[in-house]
Amino acid sequence: MKKKTLKFKFKKIKNFLNKEEVDICREYLLIQHKNNFNNFDTSQNSNLDTSVYSDPLIESLLLNKKNVIEKEINLNLLPSYSFYRVYTMFSELTKHTDRPSCEFSVTVMAGSSGEKWPIFMDGVPVELFPGDAVIYAGCNIEHWREEFLGDWHAQFFLHYVNKDGPYVEYELDKRPYLGAPGSMRGVITKGDKK
Ligand SMILES: [Fe+2]
Repeated sequence: MKKKTLKFKFKKIKNFLNKEEVDICREYLLIQHKNNFNNFDTSQNSNLDTSVYSDPLIESLLLNKKNVIEKEINLNLLPSYSFYRVYTMFSELTKHTDRPSCEFSVTVMAGSSGEKWPIFMDGVPVELFPGDAVIYAGCNIEHWREEFLGDWHAQFFLHYVNKDGPYVEYELDKRPYLGAPGSMRGVITKGDKK
């Protein structure tokens, strides 16, 4: 029988990033967004958001923030993958739950043009300011945002699986190494994972 994932739903973390980390992430994501001339992002929707899977900076944060998340939820974790998105006017995040690679997810607010734009976790609106984060059980609870009517909003996502849970096979999102692109999902050589 598969081990049950816990009853944990979500938890807001104030100042998950310190001021210096916020400044670096905000400027980095904005520069990336402004230079997205070649559509390097992994999915492009109609309103010109920038969305990138496995960006090197965010993958580094995925690795280096793991211990902070483990302490917050009192579990041992394995990194899965990271993602970032710079939302623009009329963006939506429709109500959904996530795939197994997102058993424990962290959404981190890196900056915005200043408009309030809560994320709803299991029906509860959670407002984040730069550096704040929410840890949530992405596969179990519905989450969404209403339509965005501001200019820009930069958010990144760190995804993990429980080291002792039912989804260990999704470590690194089934990629051979940290930082590998999404096209390498499923290309795993045993003993190759680092
Ligand atoms: Fe999600």
